[in-house]
Amino acid sequence: MLNGEKLIRRPLRWGMVGGGRTGQVGYKHRTGALRDNTAYRLVCGAFDIDPARGKDFGVNIGVDADRCYADYKTLIAGEAKRADGVEVVTVATPNFTHYEITRACLEAGLHVICEKPLFFTVKECREIEELAARKGLVVGVTYGFTGHPLVHQMAAMVKKGILGDIRIVDLEYTHGFNSGDDVGASEAVKWRTNPKTAGPTFVLGDIGTHLYYLSEIVLPHLKIEKLLCDRNAFISTRAPLEDHATVLMHYDNGARGRLWVSSVDAGNMGSQRYRFVGSKASVSWSDAHPDQLIYEIQGEPPQILHHGMPYLEKESLACDRMGALHTEGLGDSWSNIYLWIAEAIDARNRGDEAFLKTHHYPGIAAGTEGVRWLENCVRSADAGSVWVDFQ
Ligand code: NAI
Repeated sequence: MLNGEKLIRRPLRWGMVGGGRTGQVGYKHRTGALRDNTAYRLVCGAFDIDPARGKDFGVNIGVDADRCYADYKTLIAGEAKRADGVEVVTVATPNFTHYEITRACLEAGLHVICEKPLFFTVKECREIEELAARKGLVVGVTYGFTGHPLVHQMAAMVKKGILGDIRIVDLEYTHGFNSGDDVGASEAVKWRTNPKTAGPTFVLGDIGTHLYYLSEIVLPHLKIEKLLCDRNAFISTRAPLEDHATVLMHYDNGARGRLWVSSVDAGNMGSQRYRFVGSKASVSWSDAHPDQLIYEIQGEPPQILHHGMPYLEKESLACDRMGALHTEGLGDSWSNIYLWIAEAIDARNRGDEAFLKTHHYPGIAAGTEGVRWLENCVRSADAGSVWVDFQ
C-alpha cells in the first residue's frame, strides 16, 4: 500500500504549461503530482493562453508571481537563469501544441510529462524519442485510469494464467456530451473537432487511446496483427474527424478485439468499460464502479473483487492508496502515474539503468504506441473501413 512516504531522493521541481483556470485536465495533473508532497513541488507555470489570466490563476494556487510566465518560451528562458529552476514540465495544452512544447523543453534539458494523444504522427514521436534518449531525459504520458490498483489486478491475473488463454477483448469509452451540434461550443470542443488543432482524429485520440493503453497494460504479451476501423461524424461539421468509431482487432494469439468510442452516446454517463475473456474465466471493470472487479469463472457464480483486499495480487495491493472499504478512484490513479514517472526521472538523474530496466511507467513508448494505433485506425477508416495490417 502507498501512503505518500518518500520514494525518491527529493521532490522534483515541477512546472505546467496549460492546465489553467479554464482547462479541463489541469487539476487532474495537480492532483496526481502534489498528493504525496514527496514527489513534486509546483514551482512555475505558463498556465494559460491568456497570460494575465494564467498569472492570476498561478498566484491563486500558490505559485510565485515572478514564476508565472506568459508562455512556455519565457518559462524555459526564465527558469534557466535560476539555480533552483524547474526540472520537469507538464504539457496540458491542446494537441497541436504538444510536439513543439515537448521538443523545446527537452532541448532545454527538462524532463516532460505530456498529455495524450502524444503528437500527430509516429514520425514526430520517433524524433522526440531520439531527442530524449540523446539528452538522457524522460518523457511521461498520462493515461488517467491506468494507475488504478484493479487495472493492475487484471494484469496480474492475466499474467498468472488465471483467465486461461485470452480470446476476447472488449473495450468501450463512450459519453454523450457532443450529441448536439457545435454552435456556441466551448474552446475545448472547438479545438477537438478541428483537424488543425486536434490532429487526425477526434474521439479515437481523445478517449480511444485510453482504452488502447489500458489494454496494453493488461495484455502486454498480445500484439495487434490487423484492424478494421469504421468512423463517422454524426454532426457533419466535425467531418473529416469522427464523433463515433468502432474498431475490430485481430491479435497475434488469435484473440479478437472490439473497441467502441463515441461522444454522441446520448445520456450515457458510464464512460469506460473493459472486459477481458479467457478460455477459463473473464474479468470486467468499469470506471463507474472502480472499486469492484467482476471475476467470472465458467460454471461458477460470479465474484466481485474489491480493491485493497488481501486476496488480491501483490501488484494490485502495492499501488493501493486508500485501503479496502474506502473508495479508490481517478485521483489515486493519477497519483500513481505521476509517482511512477517521478521514480523514472529520479533514476534517470542518478544514472540508475538497472532500476529503469524493470521499472514500469507510461513513457514515450506508450505515447508512440497510441499514435501508431491512431494512424492505423485512420488508414483503415479512410480506405472505406477495410482490414489493414498493423504497421
Ligand atoms: P482545454 O481546452 O480545456 O484547456 C486547455 C488549456 O491550455 C487552457 O487552460 C488554455 O488556456 C491552455 N493553453 C492553450 N494553449 C496554450 C499555450 N500555447 N500555452 C499555455 N497554455 C495554453 O483542454 P483540455 O481538455 O484540458 O485538454 C488539454 C490536453 O489534455 C489535450 O491534449 C487533451 O487531449 C488532454 N486530456 C487528457 C485527459 C486525460 O485523462 N489524460 C483528459 C482531458 C484532456
